[in-house]
Amino acid sequence: MAENIQIHGNTKEEKYESLLSQVTALVQGETDQIANMANICAALKHGMDFFWVGFYLVKGEQLVLGPFQGPVACTRINFGKGVCGTAWKNKTTVIVDDVNQFPGHIACSALSKSEIVLPFFGKEDNVIGVLDIDSDNFSTFDHTDEIYLTRILTLIH
Ligand code: SME
Repeated sequence: MAENIQIHGNTKEEKYESLLSQVTALVQGETDQIANMANICAALKHGMDFFWVGFYLVKGEQLVLGPFQGPVACTRINFGKGVCGTAWKNKTTVIVDDVNQFPGHIACSALSKSEIVLPFFGKEDNVIGVLDIDSDNFSTFDHTDEIYLTRILTLIH
């Protein structure tokens, strides 16, 4: 197993391509979801230099904090609440350029400025969790992030 994630390239696309191949190698052969989520968080946080990267997992009527990298975060989010709960409810990726402009945004850290949240699905197309990434800069995330992060989420079965 590689000891470190090495990111090559200058553009966002090049960096994600470089990350994707290494993350694929990192999680292939491991069937434990939590272990793979934990390594994906570490690879994204340190490889892409994001402020906070973490999973929230659906447990009953709430999202509960799962594996993450970064400062401590809120542990429970209700259905439909905040960016994470909205991604869960709408079953779609939510990109927020300025968290201050998102009604109901849940501020776990005052340093967080922009955010992307992607739901991921179980066998019956039910949302089983969300991947939440925060940036300490405004307007960090776009469709390119959505494409590559969606590909990374397919690695979690
Ligand atoms: N901002 C998120 C809450 C989770 S933290 O960013 C880690 C939200 O509004 O759902």
